[in-house]
Amino acid sequence: MIPRIYIPGDSGALALGAEKVAKAIASELAERGIEAKIVRNGSRGAYFLEPMVEVATANGRVAYGPVKPSDVKSLFDSGFLTGGHHKRWLGAPDKIPFLAKQTRLTFARCGVTDPLSLESYKKYGGLNGLTNALGLTPAAIVAEVTESGLRGRGGAGFPTGIKWKTVLDTSGDRKYIVCNADEGDSGTFADRMIMEGDPFVLIEGMTIAGIATGATKGFVYVRSEYPHAVAVMNKAVEIARKAGVLGASVLGSAYAFDMEIRVGAGAYVCGEETALLDSLEGKRGMVRAKPPLPAHKGLFGKPTVINNVISLASVPVIMDKGAAFYKDFGMGRSRGTIPIQIAGNVKHAGLFEAAFGMTLGEIVDGIGGGTATGLPVKAVQVGGPLGAYFPRALFDTPFDYEAFAAKDGLIGHAGIVVFDDTADMLKQARFAMEFCAIESCGKCTPCRIGSTRGVETIDRIAAGIEPEKNLALVTDLCNTMKFGSLCALGGFTPYPVMSSITHFPDDFKPAPVRVAAE
Ligand SMILES: Cc1cc2nc3c(=O)[nH]c(=O)nc-3n(C[C@H](O)[C@H](O)[C@H](O)COP(=O)(O)O)c2cc1C
Ligand code: SF4
Repeated sequence: MIPRIYIPGDSGALALGAEKVAKAIASELAERGIEAKIVRNGSRGAYFLEPMVEVATANGRVAYGPVKPSDVKSLFDSGFLTGGHHKRWLGAPDKIPFLAKQTRLTFARCGVTDPLSLESYKKYGGLNGLTNALGLTPAAIVAEVTESGLRGRGGAGFPTGIKWKTVLDTSGDRKYIVCNADEGDSGTFADRMIMEGDPFVLIEGMTIAGIATGATKGFVYVRSEYPHAVAVMNKAVEIARKAGVLGASVLGSAYAFDMEIRVGAGAYVCGEETALLDSLEGKRGMVRAKPPLPAHKGLFGKPTVINNVISLASVPVIMDKGAAFYKDFGMGRSRGTIPIQIAGNVKHAGLFEAAFGMTLGEIVDGIGGGTATGLPVKAVQVGGPLGAYFPRALFDTPFDYEAFAAKDGLIGHAGIVVFDDTADMLKQARFAMEFCAIESCGKCTPCRIGSTRGVETIDRIAAGIEPEKNLALVTDLCNTMKFGSLCALGGFTPYPVMSSITHFPDDFKPAPVRVAAE
């Protein structure tokens, strides 16, 4: 059997030099006259070990990482094609603590299989969920997804089954499934990883959603900063179409479903579902007032399911193993698993899929290993640019939608950005307002004007101008934005601002004191 070498083609791994490593391995193979098959897999998500190269040996896979092109000669000399020891040797990938501690349901195949091999997808359980779904009525599929407790992983945590039921129950000559792959939250990369590493799972999830709701057409709206994901998804759709997974007769059934990949132009607000629909329709991305809900009048005015990549990619495992299996993971009303993305100033950056319920401290200190700089953790922002900054005192908060909300925070798309004690929380609060001002779609006043006034007022606090009065003004402004904005961009910007003020009051002291403290 010719040796198989797995080198990630994932853009995170590429950014860390995977392409150069692949070239070095290919030329070393040629030089030594060794025949081997190089598979460009996705990433397993342990980015601190990327580029992570794996070889398939008689005793299973053996991983090496992070591999540099300069390591390649010595890897061959050490017999890495048969799992030989080397300073980059990591052993069996699923025994690497960062990976071994995870519960991989949605990401079970990511980094393991060849992303564009449908055969490999099927070998690892792919299409089981769709096959099962085809044996059920649409209402029974919706009931199964509802029963699983799956909630939207894009940010709002809305129950997926209920959204699907609304579309199923709404009549329309045409219905759509729209996948939100805009992934604009800071520190997040789960959607990208799935699209690059296991595209068929998203195709399968969207197809099940189509069958369940009566939609025959799907669109994936991908951010323009993800060219690799776009390329992989386009190829995967073509392969799925040729194989009869997509098309006029899904897997030979009476159901039709097809899909297209569309690329956004790069606006955070286009991740908001109604702005996304406008953008998809070829208009400038502006938030629409609700009602009507997209489930009633969505894309081109037709009933539309809009779900995040991870929500849709979690459906195949639910339909494969059953709602009860999925629901068994998690806590409270947060069921199943969630891909937590650990980023920022952290030692072990990467994607960690786990059942809901781990504490923030376990994630940041235990899994993330603390800061990369070695300095104490000062704050972590959970849930993207609209998420609250949590201090160490809140590290006992379990990763659960309700537990975070109870502490004025949010889980969002499950991105965690870690900051060490050099972070200036006044600057972070200012950044939140500035970000809102830049990204605001401009439709409503509290967001469009409020964010700019917020920047100015925080600047006055930083300059020591009437700090108490201006702090009260920021608080007042945050309340206006929170309760008066049309969408969560203006409505949630107060979370990072107010959490900074509440948990890190010293950073908002008047300028002379701040200077003295520094
Ligand atoms: C400003 C803003 C940006 C958003 N960006 C995204 C995004 O990038 N991806 C996403 O899935 N949801 C995003 N959302 C949430 C979507 O509006 C919507 O709730 C989600 O796509 C629904 O899918 P889900 O139920 O599967 O989570 C954003 C919301 C707001 C207000
Ligand atoms: S809150 Fe901001 S982004 Fe949302 S609708 Fe209003 S102006 Fe647009």
